[in-house]
Amino acid sequence: MAKKKVSKAVFPAAGLGTRFLPATKASPKEMLPIVDKPMIQYAVEEAQACKINEYIVITGKSKRAIEDHFDIAWELEENLKSKGKQVILDEIQQLSQHQFAYIRQGLPLGLGHAILCAKPFVKDEPFAVILSDDIIDPDDNLLKDMIKIHNKHQATVLALQKVPMSEIHRYGVIAGKEVGKNLFRISDMVEKPKQSAAPSDMAIIGRYILTPDIFTILEKTPPGKGGEIQLTDAIKTMLKKKPVYGFLFEGNRYDGGDKVGYLQATVELALKNPGVKEQFKKYLVSRMPSIIEKEK
Ligand code: UTP
Repeated sequence: MAKKKVSKAVFPAAGLGTRFLPATKASPKEMLPIVDKPMIQYAVEEAQACKINEYIVITGKSKRAIEDHFDIAWELEENLKSKGKQVILDEIQQLSQHQFAYIRQGLPLGLGHAILCAKPFVKDEPFAVILSDDIIDPDDNLLKDMIKIHNKHQATVLALQKVPMSEIHRYGVIAGKEVGKNLFRISDMVEKPKQSAAPSDMAIIGRYILTPDIFTILEKTPPGKGGEIQLTDAIKTMLKKKPVYGFLFEGNRYDGGDKVGYLQATVELALKNPGVKEQFKKYLVSRMPSIIEKEK
C-alpha cells in the first residue's frame, strides 16, 4: 500500500478551560495571547512549518473567535491598507490563506471524543494532533521529528517529556523500551496515575501523529477517567495490536492551560520577540533585585 503523507492537523479546542476561569468563561482558552499571538496561532504555525496544509479545529461553546481569527477581516484590512500599515497587513492576510475546517463537539466528552469528531475530514490518512495549550518553543522541531519517525515506521507516534514525579498525576504516563535515541516502543500507558502507580516519569504531551485506525478504536472506547472518552485508552488498545512509539522531547514546552505555565511561556517568548525583547529584558532585570530581596 502506498505510504500516505501527514498533510492534516487536528486542533482539539472544545475543552472548557476550567483552570483558566474566569478568563475562559466567554472566550476560548486557545485565543489567550502569548505576547502578540493567540496560542492556537503558534500551533497552526508549527503545523505549517511541517508542510501540513489542512487544519481541522474541534470547537465548542464560546469558541467562535477562533474562526474569526483565521478568517478574512475585510474592514480591518482596508483600514490598515489606507493607513499604509503594510507589515501588519501582510501578517493579518497570511492568517486567512489556509484551508480550515471547523467541527463542533456538542459536549466536551473528552479528548478522544474530540478527535473522533474529525473522522469525516481525516478519512483514512495519518494525521497530526496538536493541543494548542501545550506550547512548544517555535525554535524546536518536535513535530518535524515525529513526522520523520512516523514516515519510517508507519506507526502512531506520541510526544513524551520527562516531568517531576510530583506532577505526574496530571498526565498520561508510559512504560516502554528505548529502541533508538530518544525513541521508545511503548508497552503500556496509564492516564493521570498516582505517583506510586506511575510506570515511569515520561509523560505524554500535546503532540501526536496518529494512524487512522484510531477512529475505529475510539468508536468502541467507553468513557474512562473523569467520565471522558480518553485518547490514552484508545492508544492503549492500539498498542496491543501494533507498535506505538514515543519520542522523548528534550526541548522547551510550556503548559499554557495552566496559569504558571502560561506566564512562563509569556516571559520566554517575549524574551525572543524582536519587537519587545530588549525593553522587556530591562524591565525584568530592574525588577529582579527587589523580588529576590522579598523572597529572603
Ligand atoms: P484539557 O485537559 O486541557 O482540558 O484538554 P480543558 O477543558 O481544555 O482545560 P481544563 O483542564 O478544564 O482547564 C486538553 C485538550 O483537549 C481539548 C481541549 O480543548 C485541550 O486542547 N478537549 C478536551 C476537547 O477538545 N474536547 C474535550 O471534550 C476535552
